[in-house]
Amino acid sequence: MNRTVLRGRVLSFHRAPQAIDDVESYLYLEDGAVSIEDGIVVAVGDFDSAETAEAMVIDHRPNLIMPGFIDLHLHYVQSQMMAAYAGSLLEWLNTYTFIEEQKFSQQGHADAVAVDFYDALIRHGTTTAVAYCSSHPRSVDAFFAEAQRRNMLMVGGKVMMDRNAPEGLCDTAQSGYDDTKALIARWHGRGRALYAISPRFAITSTPAQMEAARALADEHPDCYVQTHLSENDAEITYSMELYPSSPDYTGIYEDFGLLGRKTLLGHSIHLNHRETGVLAETGAVAVFCPTSNLFLGSGLFDRERLVSHGVRVGIATDIGGGTSVSMLRTLDEGYKVLQLRGQRLNPFASFHMATRGNAEALGLEGTIGSIAPGMAADLVVLDSAATPTMRLRHATMSTLAEELFLLQTMGDDRAIAEVYVAGARAKSTLGGL
Ligand code: GUN
Ligand code: ZN
Repeated sequence: MNRTVLRGRVLSFHRAPQAIDDVESYLYLEDGAVSIEDGIVVAVGDFDSAETAEAMVIDHRPNLIMPGFIDLHLHYVQSQMMAAYAGSLLEWLNTYTFIEEQKFSQQGHADAVAVDFYDALIRHGTTTAVAYCSSHPRSVDAFFAEAQRRNMLMVGGKVMMDRNAPEGLCDTAQSGYDDTKALIARWHGRGRALYAISPRFAITSTPAQMEAARALADEHPDCYVQTHLSENDAEITYSMELYPSSPDYTGIYEDFGLLGRKTLLGHSIHLNHRETGVLAETGAVAVFCPTSNLFLGSGLFDRERLVSHGVRVGIATDIGGGTSVSMLRTLDEGYKVLQLRGQRLNPFASFHMATRGNAEALGLEGTIGSIAPGMAADLVVLDSAATPTMRLRHATMSTLAEELFLLQTMGDDRAIAEVYVAGARAKSTLGGL
């Protein structure tokens, strides 16, 4: 059996840190060894006591080995439309997004973008993401086929949308159901692929399509459900006009039985007391998308309020409303959003959220998101002195908390020294960098 041992400083969370000095919440090894066989971590401990005979030892010192980042919400079909100049969400969708996504009716286009998309994820240290594809089933095939070639654990699905969008992008309640059903049969559970039933949001799905999504979720309880919730004021007003009998925006998805522990709700910014209670009761996950929320002027996510009411929370880039593929940049912007809310997110809580926290949001904490025996060897190696300016700050630091905060505040893809996917080097082996 081939054994690889990665040597370096190792950091992995057991649970959410309650405070900056909650040292029980994580494992930190100053000179650690992560032993990997067949893509799985088989041992973690001090390098001194690691079994290295006949192993290939890769020395990453002084860099920091962590679980690969997990991105809980993005649109791979928007990889080429980041930085689109628009005043707010609905203008951005109508002017750019719905035009761009129509290109995915072409298989060649979908295949090519999928390659670039995964290259970008790997460059930025993200080893798992939850993605919206376009409404075209072939965009889903391209998405999962490329993930399979790279052995990556990816979650995704065909966007279901049957109104308020160009004809080239609209399905129907029936075809959305049929196509989703066929895609689940083709991809869900194949290799590391997991399917997310994806009604885009209330504005672009008729009640008939919401019913179809409910049927799919009932028939496939092991699949995820993802949609957008309460991102922007105009979006909320329009949604309530389209669903006048629902008590509020969350109530629309609740009325169609779409809320549960496998439901991921992008944005979830402007929620009333009742809605917060419903999310807590159903176990649905509110997904914080800081760079996108700032870029589109959507609002400031209220993490503390949600967490204190028992709502499960995760974090994501929301490419291409988001402005960076990097989870480090995302943590940085998230920190600033919470500063504006008078909330402080300590760096341990940040890095927990991007790794183990997002894995828990997916119910996949037994597979990804931490470094422990039996977990997939999906890892990132972080260099906190990657740039001249980072190096300057690095020279003045003395604690792990300071180092993590430096990484999130100043880091980007240059701070990602290496990435492992199922135990195999993935960043240094990318072509054409
Ligand atoms: N709401 C519905 N679709 C989208 C999308 O593609 N991006 C964002 N940010 N919000 C949405
Ligand atoms: Zn989105």
